Amino acid sequence: MSAANELTKPILPGTAASDYERYLRTDELLALQKTEDERRHPDELTFQVVHQASELLMKGAVHEVDRGRERLMHGDFFDCARLLRRALMMLDPPIQLLRVLETITPFDYQIIRQGLGHGSGLDSPGFSALLHIAPRLGDAFYQQLEAHGLSVIDLYRRHAEFFGLHEVAECMLDFDEHVQAFRFHHLKLAQRIIGGFVAGTMGTPVEVLRQRQEHLFYKPLWDVRNDITRECSEARTGDPDAPQLGHGKQY
Ligand code: HEM
Repeated sequence: MSAANELTKPILPGTAASDYERYLRTDELLALQKTEDERRHPDELTFQVVHQASELLMKGAVHEVDRGRERLMHGDFFDCARLLRRALMMLDPPIQLLRVLETITPFDYQIIRQGLGHGSGLDSPGFSALLHIAPRLGDAFYQQLEAHGLSVIDLYRRHAEFFGLHEVAECMLDFDEHVQAFRFHHLKLAQRIIGGFVAGTMGTPVEVLRQRQEHLFYKPLWDVRNDITRECSEARTGDPDAPQLGHGKQY
């Protein structure tokens, strides 16, 4: 057998035809969707694939946030920020994919919905894991602030000196924004497909999704912006609530 032929022969354990399929376990992965005969509607494949892809990406994102949290606890802020940035990139596609489902018509969705039982995104393992890891990342961050004798506003004031930890704080803010963006686009999807004043498959009113959308994990990181603006206004005018100039103009 020639050397080129040798290279196409699978060497990993498994029965699939190539090492690509064996490593990625594509046989199992691609068998995880309903077959054509099992589908209630042709759109159901898209519905399943979007959900499954989102679950996988959320799993990947949670893994990286957890690794980032560990780096943060060891004081390795730059590596933490690098891993958090990767996690954020993995959360972009699930947000985008919600748009794909907006192309399902409300009547077609009602057909798919009949096969969902009590299945609900409230039981999404990926999203639940994100909700679980977020406060733990916050704890690790506030511990580092304390260890360095910093308040949140100190960190922002001395950002050049504590650049790595400042980067982590900005990634955490981004994380909050990503979860909010997911919830916002998901709310719009639910409002478009089933309406804003009905209940979901688990009986949760869509209105509850709107309320959750306002939830923040790292409120102090958002609040500090107000403190900075007030502090600077006071230094400039003697009044912390003085009308803002330019883009921050108050009418
Ligand atoms: C046609 C598409 C969709 C509709 C109509 C829809 C509708 C809903 C509704 C009504 C709820 C409230 C809970 C309940 O079911 O009673 C919910 C929750 C949720 N859904 Fe969806 N959903 C859709 C697609 C998706 C997709 C693609 C994902 C991605 C994984 C997802 C993830 C979630 C999550 C994570 C929650 C809990 C939200 C939270 O805690 O804020 N949903 N969904």
